[in-house]
Amino acid sequence: MHNLLTDIPVLDGTEDLDAPKTAGIEVSGRKAVYLETYGCQMNVSDSEIVASVLRNAGFGLTHNEAEADIILLNTCAIRENAEQKVRRRLDALRADKRRNRPDLKLGILGCMAERLRHKLLEQEKLVDLVVGPDAYRDIPRLLDESAESGQAAVNVQLSREETYADIAPVRYDTNGVSAFVSIMRGCDNMCAFCVVPFTRGRERSRPVSSILGECRELVDGGFKEVTVLGQNVNSYRYDDNGSAVSFAELLHRISLISSELRIRYSTSHPKDCSDELLHVHAERDNVCNYIHLPVQHGNTNVLQRMKRTYTRAEYLALVDRARNIVPGISFSTDLIAGFCDETEAEHQDTLSLMETVRYDHAYMFMYSERPDTYAARKYLDNVPEDVKKRRLNEIIQLQSRISGENNRQDIGTEHVVLIEGTSKRSEDQLKGRTDTNKMVVFDKVGMLAKGDYARVTIEDCTSATLRGRVLTPVVA
Ligand code: SAH
Ligand code: SF4
Ligand code: F3S
Repeated sequence: MHNLLTDIPVLDGTEDLDAPKTAGIEVSGRKAVYLETYGCQMNVSDSEIVASVLRNAGFGLTHNEAEADIILLNTCAIRENAEQKVRRRLDALRADKRRNRPDLKLGILGCMAERLRHKLLEQEKLVDLVVGPDAYRDIPRLLDESAESGQAAVNVQLSREETYADIAPVRYDTNGVSAFVSIMRGCDNMCAFCVVPFTRGRERSRPVSSILGECRELVDGGFKEVTVLGQNVNSYRYDDNGSAVSFAELLHRISLISSELRIRYSTSHPKDCSDELLHVHAERDNVCNYIHLPVQHGNTNVLQRMKRTYTRAEYLALVDRARNIVPGISFSTDLIAGFCDETEAEHQDTLSLMETVRYDHAYMFMYSERPDTYAARKYLDNVPEDVKKRRLNEIIQLQSRISGENNRQDIGTEHVVLIEGTSKRSEDQLKGRTDTNKMVVFDKVGMLAKGDYARVTIEDCTSATLRGRVLTPVVA
């Protein structure tokens, strides 16, 4: 099987395993790599860079783990349980290697590689390869080095410049409709709870021209939606021949590429969400009326302890401003329950903020202390586990109620949906997202297919999904 878009050989498990691997792999006499991704969208996007680096060096990519010569895990360190998941996976892979596949090479990439660095090699002798997020160009050399020496190879150097701007990502796991485009790397914010500044290094923005070029290629390849990515896209800034391009300006320029291309972004920090940006949402139809705007907490003192640099009142004022400038704009958020010293009253402030903003969706987490962070060094992780859990459950239940209520309010309204494919339940049903990022399922009509826009009316819902009926088959 070949992925036509990229022409990279992809083995999908239907091949005769005894036969030589496909030409793409044998051509250079190189090995087949199985790449598994954990963590955030940035990691998904990074894996596409890694796939590209490997392809250019003559490696093949396989979707079948059993066929791989090399297994790479692109990892996340954001919470303790994210790391535990990778450790369990690694234990299973090492056991398999010991018992059945002595030649298998195992590698850890990404944030956990950066955080644990030599520990993975020296203390635990876990893997053959450890590569941090800024060293992906070096993977082929490291693989060669490890093959030659029989020893582990490591590069966890962080960079102030690396944006992989010139590397065309290999979209090896795509629906052909939506794609991620990374516009910046690293983070300079130093939120007290967060490990990302340590694992991803200093913030840097990718050149405007390479971002626009990648978006144009996606449009030419038939893609209809891009989500531009960074840890804090609002602080994107690039000096383009003497004039500084802000995030708002960048979005505006992307939106001019094609009216058929929808644009979303993630993640934006509330501290620098500008009115200029909100006006781009209002003025450009293809910049979606949806913002993921992580608040983390509803109490100003906790926000201060978290070093988020805005107050509850400032956040709420921003939401109001956005709703005035962009009527109907939808919000989602991230919330942390049980941060250091969190009192019951402070927790109640998170619940009341949720009631005020009425997010359509939220990612909700229990606080997990991360080594080396400001919180780990200066505060006590002193909210008992059962209290954290109970508070998180209250947050989850409230969000589920609000999502359901918001969805019911959509009944009777019309939306333009970008079709992403058939629904899980039935081949006769299509699914896609509204401009406001809500999933809609509806019966297939005529020739409608993946990648088409359709105007639908909403007739029913659950707390997670809307049910619609097609009004106009295709909206050009
Ligand atoms: N750059 C993004 C966040 C990336 S991490 C932003 O600033 O919005 C994604 C989310 O994980 C965060 O928004 C936060 O809610 C959560 N998170 C980060 N560190 C955490 C920790 N130590 N414990 C629990 N949740 C955490
Ligand atoms: Fe972490 Fe804060 Fe940076 Fe987001 S903005 S990645 S939460 S330090
Ligand atoms: Fe995880 Fe790293 Fe993303 S810690 S959330 S994979 S930036």
